[in-house]
Amino acid sequence: MIVPTSVLRLLGCAPLAASLAPLAPAQSKPVFTAEPTQNRAVFTKVPGTLTTSDAANGKPIYDVSCQSCHKNGVMGAPKVGDKATWAPRIAQGLDKLVSNSIKGYKGAKGMMPPKGGNPKLTDSQVRYAVEYMVQQSR
Ligand code: HEC
Repeated sequence: MIVPTSVLRLLGCAPLAASLAPLAPAQSKPVFTAEPTQNRAVFTKVPGTLTTSDAANGKPIYDVSCQSCHKNGVMGAPKVGDKATWAPRIAQGLDKLVSNSIKGYKGAKGMMPPKGGNPKLTDSQVRYAVEYMVQQSR
């Protein structure tokens, strides 16, 4: 039976009513700490430029969402650290790599799922992860 919180309050069960309340607005805490709006500003200022801190931000994102395929080259994914495989990809430019990673694409080697299959990632977080991968592979 579902008891409206107002009834619980009338019955003197205020603490119970209060404990039920947080169920309503599902609060999803962001998993990563990267601040999206700030990052976007930085990226438009210096398109295609890598900084060490951007790549450092990308490591935890890569660890969670990308390394399952990119660490060992699963499903044809370019292996991080394999310079020869990455060189022609890096030559496309960072923006192209990022947009392919956000939207996903099918290439000659396999299928890169949008955001690596993690739709919770913001575009900026994907960009950080790509920057990390590129930094490790050039
Ligand atoms: C399910 C496996 C899988 C996961 C997870 C995955 N990728 Fe990929 N990714 C691929 C495959 C396969 C390719 C190569 C497709 C091709 O070129 O044929 C690829 C290619 C790429 C490329 C090269 C794009 C280009 O234009 O050459 C980038 C950059 C990339 N992935 C970034 C990421 C990032 C960032 C993540 C995590 C957010 C991620 N990937 C997670 C499978 C994956």
